[in-house]
Amino acid sequence: EIMKNLIPFIAYLIVLSCQNSKSDVDLKVKNLLSQMTLEEKIGQMNQYNGFYDATGPAPDGEDQKIKYENVKNGLVGSMLNVRGVDEVRAFQKLAVENSRLGIPIIFGFDVIHGYKTVFPIPLAESASWDLDIIEMSAKMSAKEASAAGLNWTFAPMVDISRDARWGRVMEGAGEDPYLGSLIAAARVKGFQGSDLSSYETIASTAKHFAAYGFSESGRDYNTVDIGMNTLHNIVLPPFKATVDAGVKTFMNSFNDLNGIPATADKYLQREILKGDWNFDGFVVSDWGSLREMIDHGFARDRKHAGELALNGGSDMDMESYIYIDHIKELLDEGKVKISQIDDAVRRILKVKYELGLFDDPYKYLDNEREKNITGSKEILDATLEVANHSIVLLKNEGNILPLKKNDQKIAIIGPLADDKNSPLGNWRTAAENNSAVSVLEAMREYKGNKISHAKGVKLVNKIPAGFHEEVSINETDKTGILNAKKIAKDADVVIMVLGEYGFQSGEGRSRTNLDLPGFQQELLEEGYKVNKNIVLVLMNGRPLILNWHNENLPAIVEAWHLGSLSGTAISNVLYGDFNPGGKLPMSFPRSVGQLPLYYNYKSTGRPGADGEDAGSVFWSHYQDELNSPLYPFGYGLSYTTFSISEISLSSDEFSNGESINASVSVSNTGNIKGREVIQLYIQDKFASATRPVRELKGFETVDLEPGESKTVEFIINEKLLEFYNGDNKWVTEPGEFNVFIGNSSQTTNSTSFNFR
Ligand code: BGC
Repeated sequence: EIMKNLIPFIAYLIVLSCQNSKSDVDLKVKNLLSQMTLEEKIGQMNQYNGFYDATGPAPDGEDQKIKYENVKNGLVGSMLNVRGVDEVRAFQKLAVENSRLGIPIIFGFDVIHGYKTVFPIPLAESASWDLDIIEMSAKMSAKEASAAGLNWTFAPMVDISRDARWGRVMEGAGEDPYLGSLIAAARVKGFQGSDLSSYETIASTAKHFAAYGFSESGRDYNTVDIGMNTLHNIVLPPFKATVDAGVKTFMNSFNDLNGIPATADKYLQREILKGDWNFDGFVVSDWGSLREMIDHGFARDRKHAGELALNGGSDMDMESYIYIDHIKELLDEGKVKISQIDDAVRRILKVKYELGLFDDPYKYLDNEREKNITGSKEILDATLEVANHSIVLLKNEGNILPLKKNDQKIAIIGPLADDKNSPLGNWRTAAENNSAVSVLEAMREYKGNKISHAKGVKLVNKIPAGFHEEVSINETDKTGILNAKKIAKDADVVIMVLGEYGFQSGEGRSRTNLDLPGFQQELLEEGYKVNKNIVLVLMNGRPLILNWHNENLPAIVEAWHLGSLSGTAISNVLYGDFNPGGKLPMSFPRSVGQLPLYYNYKSTGRPGADGEDAGSVFWSHYQDELNSPLYPFGYGLSYTTFSISEISLSSDEFSNGESINASVSVSNTGNIKGREVIQLYIQDKFASATRPVRELKGFETVDLEPGESKTVEFIINEKLLEFYNGDNKWVTEPGEFNVFIGNSSQTTNSTSFNFR
């Protein structure tokens, strides 16, 4: 009896102690804040790019001297692009040992798909549809980055994008808000772990807030003008998912949204993020985005930009030096409030406390650990697992794949076949150049076959190597094609490794043409003239146009930019040591003219399906191209085959507070073990705002032995039916819904139910 009475009391004590530790941090922050001068507060809101080699003597350039003094005087809250234990320690020491209050610096870096050991680009990883693997990838990246002294990554990028012209699609999870939200949350959990104060975890950033992925015409940094419907139903859900997953920081974006540069957007940052969503971390600007508001024609001058940004909810200024220069003056003039400054600083200090930096500013700095963890086998092995699962088999006719392991003559052709750089992708920030395993190297590991090799078309250096290396695929010299043709003719199978050079996608890398760059198409077609047994292995950071390829080639393997062990993963798949199971996270268009292209489009008042009504004119279509993509969202093949049963519903109606189950039985009908991703789509047939023709609302990866079957069950409740309507509210409306379950967004396996 006594025990019974004690239980609620003990539970109460536990709750109290948890609250204590939370309010403990709040109390410490409050206490520290009360000791800070205005200058010191403003300093916390100031972030510098690494400006000199901190392990050397003090700098002598004028700008550098000012920055150096600011670090010493506690006027720098954060630095980016300072990495490696010795470098970070030197800066941290400078700040902690010289400044009045000894507040530690938080060190940020773009750990986007790995640090030194490179994981597949995020778009590729997303093709795995495997949340455990994606979380693990972020966890390993955090482990390696934190061992190099870093506390904070500017990832994940959770921008939904429907336009393959935009080079930054490689950094995100593709076009779908449901898949994008789950992947966003998995990445945050991976980076931050369950204990942020551990030296193996780092704070993460949801970026770019918001709608950067909708840059007009797919041109980077371009303007965005979208309505509330798209903003709330498509763009914002992944951001909200990161808040729910406990993300510590947000980064705003370069674009303006409906006339307001995101950096100064009160609605986004103050009303939604810090208001409705209760986000209690801090918002960092994008690189120089405060200053860019002058070019936007939104801020009169630098000082005005500072006023707009702070009022708009930006807490930290990345590389505009505007807060440090102007906030004091703005406060004196009454243009900004001290409460806004205090709130920004409170948020920043809080994250530093949570990282454990106040307990020990040097806790991430251990040379031994750096040595042991950087490039460790554990992390390298993890990249292979992720890379294997990222590959999407787009076509495989006549089972040309997997390749036979013996007595074959295999020609490996293409500018990317022996390239050890492209597979590292665009954000290989701390990786060594040319450190990936190439396809050629990995294929040579299989000794049973005879390998020949020709580049056919070479890579050319436009600008000498460096961070913003500009390499392209040769557009002036095609003399190599002749030799490539010779070896193709002589081979049993030709592997063409073609696509985009590693820096052809990414920031600032928009394209209007999504064909194979340079002379690669000519190389391919010339090769095809002498040998039709071609397997096309693609390396790219975005969807490409593959009509000719799909029509003519027996096999196409989408291998993206897969990171350090790219070649190993590709050869695993080509030889069938790994059965591919990836599914496209973005639609592959038939033509650039179709962009933006996405599976969850609106029906319109003049709908129609491809091929339907061929004689008619006045419906929503093109005269010269189909509406549908070449390869749809959610599509991908396997070396085995699967059958999916009709849908069975536990009931064909339900109401508020209830749910129904929708299930299918999936069987592996082929001869080898394989993975299928079963996808649930729902269509709201009639609503108070127009709804997409279907929307992904669930998925499950199923691993099956040959002959094995499993039942996959989805729970459908009112939450899944919710949408943001014309009255700017989240609602679930009664009515009839179609439900589809299959293995791509084009599945026709469907039934319907009523929500009352
Ligand atoms: C990018 C951000 C990145 C930042 C810092 C900017 O140009 O837009 O995504 O985090 O640079 O490197």
